[in-house]
Amino acid sequence: MALLMPGPFVDQPEWIDRLAEQGLIVMPEALPTACTEGLLQEWQSRYAAGYSAPAHIGKGYQQQAAATIRSDRIHWLEANDPQPDIAAFFQAIRVWSRAVNQSLYLALNAFECHFACYEPGAFYQKHRDRFQADNGRRLSLVLFLNRNWKSEDGGDLVIYNPLHDDEILQVIPPTFGTLVIFDSERFPHEVRPTQRQRLSLTGWLKSISAHDAFLQGTALFPDPAAL
Ligand code: OGA
Ligand code: MN
Repeated sequence: MALLMPGPFVDQPEWIDRLAEQGLIVMPEALPTACTEGLLQEWQSRYAAGYSAPAHIGKGYQQQAAATIRSDRIHWLEANDPQPDIAAFFQAIRVWSRAVNQSLYLALNAFECHFACYEPGAFYQKHRDRFQADNGRRLSLVLFLNRNWKSEDGGDLVIYNPLHDDEILQVIPPTFGTLVIFDSERFPHEVRPTQRQRLSLTGWLKSISAHDAFLQGTALFPDPAAL
């Protein structure tokens, strides 16, 4: 369990500069370890209790169970989830988004996120996170929750060059505590087949109308817990 503390990455504005320059940052030990550990335990216990469903792609009527494209199972989180580590995570995202808005003018005002579990053999083929019908996604976030990940475990997140999408830019193992943030529109990426159960928390910071954010229940500001 963690208190409502933003945690290391929020206190390191140089990451925001790097995000502006490169569109992609990979931050090891981004949150206090106790918070990452709490998120892992919470996801493990919800998963064991059956709180997950096969992930879909697309939205609304375009939505299709797409086991040929991705085979993870997910559990969406609500912004007012009372679990302390989830609340701390949302708070860190809120504080960080404010700083990003001040430096990069992205007008981030909404956040949606889910836990994800890739069982052995699961993968997610190369894709971009922003749907064709604009879904307002600006930044993609992935927090990895896997202790002692070894290269033979597979499951790397592979980021491709936006201009030449056969060219690999970076191969990122899903190591415990690493937080990856990248431009949702620019970077094609994939999850290579995993050999071991692979757990993560994946989210998107969005810029959408306040009305849509309210309807979706994804509004970042004001903090619902503070109302
Ligand atoms: C996604 C995704 C990457 C990962 O869920 O859209 O690309 O490493 N996840 O889990
Ligand atoms: Mn993705």
